[in-house]
Amino acid sequence: METLSWRPRIVAETVTPDIRVPPDIRERMTDRRRDTAGPSRSPSSDASTLVGRDAEMAVVRDVLATACAGFRSTVLVEGEAGIGKSRLVEEALSEMERGGSLVVRGWAREPERDRPFGAIGDALGLRPDSRDPERAALARLLHGDPDAPTAGSLSSQAPELRFRLVEGIVDLVERLAGAAPVALLLEDLHWADDATLLVVEQLARRLKGLPVVVLATLRPAPRGRALDRLVGILLATGATRLEVGGLDPPSATDLVAGLVGAVPGPGLRAQIERAGGNPLYLGELVEALVEEGGMAVTGETADVRAATLPTSLGETVVRRLRFLDDEALDVLSAASVLGTAFSLDDLAVMLDTPATRLLSALREPLRARLVAESGERLAFRHDLVRDALYADLPLTGRRALHLQAARLLAGAGRRPVDVARHFVLGAAQGDAEAIDWLSRAARDAAARSPEVAAQLLQAAVRLAGPDHPRRDVLEAELAAALVWSGSTLDGEARLRAILDRAHAPEIDVPVRLALAQALFHDGRGQAAVEEVERTMELPALEPLQRGRLLAEAALGRLWSGALDQARVHAGNALTAGHLAEDDAAVCSALAVQSWLRQAEGDTSGAIAIAERAVEVAESSRTREASRRPPQLLLGLLLIEGDQLDEAGKAFDAARRIGEDLGTVWDLPAFHWALGLSHFVAGDYDDALAEVEAGLDVSEEVGTRLQMVWAQAIEAHIRIQRDDLHAATAALEAGERELARAGPQAKTDWLLWARALLAEAQGDTEGAHAILRMVWDAYTALGVVSERRALGPDLVRLSLLRGARSEAEAVAGAVQEAAEMIATPGARGAALRCRGLASGDAGLLLDAVRAYRESPRRMELGHACEDAGVALARAGRRDQA
Ligand SMILES: Nc1ncnc2c1ncn2[C@@H]1O[C@H](COP(=O)(O)OP(=O)(O)OP(=O)(O)O)[C@@H](O)[C@H]1O
Ligand SMILES: [Mg+2]
Repeated sequence: METLSWRPRIVAETVTPDIRVPPDIRERMTDRRRDTAGPSRSPSSDASTLVGRDAEMAVVRDVLATACAGFRSTVLVEGEAGIGKSRLVEEALSEMERGGSLVVRGWAREPERDRPFGAIGDALGLRPDSRDPERAALARLLHGDPDAPTAGSLSSQAPELRFRLVEGIVDLVERLAGAAPVALLLEDLHWADDATLLVVEQLARRLKGLPVVVLATLRPAPRGRALDRLVGILLATGATRLEVGGLDPPSATDLVAGLVGAVPGPGLRAQIERAGGNPLYLGELVEALVEEGGMAVTGETADVRAATLPTSLGETVVRRLRFLDDEALDVLSAASVLGTAFSLDDLAVMLDTPATRLLSALREPLRARLVAESGERLAFRHDLVRDALYADLPLTGRRALHLQAARLLAGAGRRPVDVARHFVLGAAQGDAEAIDWLSRAARDAAARSPEVAAQLLQAAVRLAGPDHPRRDVLEAELAAALVWSGSTLDGEARLRAILDRAHAPEIDVPVRLALAQALFHDGRGQAAVEEVERTMELPALEPLQRGRLLAEAALGRLWSGALDQARVHAGNALTAGHLAEDDAAVCSALAVQSWLRQAEGDTSGAIAIAERAVEVAESSRTREASRRPPQLLLGLLLIEGDQLDEAGKAFDAARRIGEDLGTVWDLPAFHWALGLSHFVAGDYDDALAEVEAGLDVSEEVGTRLQMVWAQAIEAHIRIQRDDLHAATAALEAGERELARAGPQAKTDWLLWARALLAEAQGDTEGAHAILRMVWDAYTALGVVSERRALGPDLVRLSLLRGARSEAEAVAGAVQEAAEMIATPGARGAALRCRGLASGDAGLLLDAVRAYRESPRRMELGHACEDAGVALARAGRRDQA
C-alpha cells in the first residue's frame, strides 16, 4: 500500500458541541440513501414529499392518461445523475398503480451491459420458475435449457433466438395490456444492453392502439450509438421527451427545509444555490454538514458555519468519506481509476496486493454501502462517488495509478484495449512501451470497433510526437479507423493531407485505398473509382491490395451507375480475392454481382449470390468482410423479392453485426433501407421517420451512400399525400446531393418522383417526357428490374396523352420483366399495366389479386384505385 502514499490527507475537524442536530435528520438521510443505492434498488418509497416538479408531473400524468385511454406511448425522462428522474417517474407511476394499472420496473446496470435482455427480463419477471408459463418459457429461451450443452445467457445472442425472444416479449406485453393498462419502466437506459434496447424499439413500433406506456430514465451521458439510434427512432415515432432540470431555488430550499426540519438561514441558502437544484447533491450536502456537525439549528432556522463550507459536489462527497481509514480511502481511490464497476481481481493486480487484504480494507466501505456487489464485480454506490474520488486524486497520482494499472494488467494478460485504456491516461510523451501497446490494441480493435481503434491511435499519435519513426504509419492507421468509425470527413481530410506531403512509401497504397473507401461511403462512387484507378497503376501492388482495389472499383462503378465496368471489375475482384484468400474482397465482389443480377431481372439468382456473400462473411476468419455487412444488401434484394419479413431479419442481422463491430458508416444506409421497406408496405409515417433518422445520422457520421434514393422515397410519399411543397423540398435536396456526389444508382427514383410532381402540378406532357427519358436510359443500360417500378406510371401518362400503342409497348416490356422477376408484386405490376393499357377491368382485378399475395400495400392501393375507375367506366358501379 506504500505506493499510494501520495494521497493528500484531509485533517478531520473537531465537531463543535454547541451544535444541535435534529435527531430525525439521520433517519431521513438514511431513507434517502436507501433510494439512491445502486445495485439493489427497488421502487422508490421515499418518505419525504416531492417538492416542485408540477410542470414535469403534469407532462408525465398526461402521457400516462393517454396510455390508459388505450394509446401506446413512450416517455424518455432525461437528466443528469441525481436530478430526480426516478423520483418523478415513481411518483407518477404509484398514482397509476393505485388506479389499477400494472406497473413493471427493470433496472439497467453498467456492469451488465452485455447481459442480453437484462433490464427488460427483470422488469417482466422472466424467470424459469415463474408461475406464468409464457414467462417461464421465455426465461428458458433466454437462459438456455439447463440440460443443453450450450446453456447460458450467451445463447440468446444467436440471431434466431434473439428474434424469437423479442417477438415473445412483445407478445407478452401485448397480452398483459389486454387485462389492464401496462406501464413498463426501464431505469437507467444508458446502461441497458442492446437486446433490451431492441425490445423497446419494437414495443414503440408496434402495439399501436394498446394501453401500454414505456417509460425510460436516462442520463445525457454515456450515450452509445445503439441508444442514440433508439432515441432517434422513439422521437420520430411520437415519444415524449421530458428533460428534467434542477429544482428552482424555492423548491430547492423547500427540499432542504424538509430534510433538516427547519427553515434554511442565509448561509445555508447560499450553499443551496451552489447545488444547481440537484436533489441528490442537496441531500449529500445536508448529510455532509450534519455528519461534520457543520449545521446549527436555532429555533426555526437552520444554518451553516462558514468555515465548513464545501465548494463543489465532488468535495462534498469526498468530505463525507472522511470517516474511512486511510487504507480504505486509498483502495477506493485506486478503484476509482478502474471505473464505476471494478473487479477485485483487477484491483488486486493493480495494487499488487492480495485480494484478501483488499477485502478487509473494503469492509467498511461495503458496510457503509459506498460500494456494493454488482454481479461478479464491485460497484460504487453512485457514479458521483467514483467521480469525486477520481477527481480528488492529484493529477500525478492519477497518472501513476493508470500507468501502474496498465503494466500490471498487461502482465496479467488482460485484453489489449483494457491495458491500452490505462496507458492513454497514464503514459508520458514518447513512452515507447505505451505507443506499442496502443497500436497493438488498435490493430486488435480495428475490425471489431473502429471507434475504439481511432481513439487508441489518436492517443498513440499524440504520445509519439512529430519525430517518432512510426508516426506516418500511426497517422495512416488513425485516418483509416476514422473513415470506418463515423468520422468520415475527418478521416478523408487526414488521408488527403498525408498524400499531399512526403510520406513513408509503405503507407501509400493503404492510404489511397482508405481514401477510396471513404469516398464510396460518402456516395461519391465516381470519385472513388478515379482514386482506385490511379492507384492500380502503381507498381508492385501486393495481391491483397489488388483484390481490395478492384473490389472498391467495382462498388464505385456500380453505385455510380456504370454497370458494364462494374461487371468487369467485380469478376476480376472475385478472382483476385480468391487468390489472396481475402474474404473482404470476395464479399464486395459478390455484392456487386448480386446487384447486377438483380438489375438484369433475376431476383432469386441475385438473392442467392447475396446469400453466398453472407456465408463468406459469416465463416470468415477475420471480421473485415463484415465491415460492409452483406446482410444489408441481401435485405434490399429481399424487398425486391417481396419478402419483407425476411428482409427485416437481414437488416436486423446487419444492424447487430454493425453494433458488434462498431461500424458506423452504414447507419444512414441502414435507416434508408428500412424506410424503403416501410414505403413498399405502405407505412408512410414509419418510412418518413426512417428517412429522417437516416438524414440525422448521416449528418453525424458523414456518409451519404443511398441518400439520393432516400430523398426520392420521401418525395414519392409527399406527392402521394398531396404535400407538393414538401415534395419539392425533398426533390431539390435529392438533386443537390446528386450534383454534389456525382452519378448514382437509383437516380431513376428521383426522376420518377420529378415526373409525378410535374403531373401533380398539371404538367402531364413534362411528366411524360421525364419518365420516358428515364425509361429509355435504363433500357439502354440493360436494367430490367426498374421496369416494374416505372412501368405503371409511364403507361398511365402515355394514355393521358392518347398514345395507346406506347402504353401497350411499355406494358409488354413490364410483362417480360415480370416473367423474369417472378414475384407476385411484379406480376401485379404487369397485370396493372396491361389492364390500364387495354382498359380491361378484369385484368386490373387480377392485378389486385396478385398484389394481395405480395406485401406491396402501396402498389395494391394504386391497383385498387385503377380497378375501381375501370369498373365504374364499364358501368359495374357495384363492384367498383
Ligand atoms: N422533487 C423532489 N423532491 C424531493 N426529493 C427528491 C426530488 N427529486 C429527487 N429527490 C430525491 O433526490 C434523490 C435523487 O433522486 P433520483 O434518484 O430520482 O435521481 P435520478 O435522476 O434518478 O438519478 P440517477 O441518474 O442517479 O438515477 C433521491 O433521494 C430522491 O428521492
Ligand atoms: Mg434514477
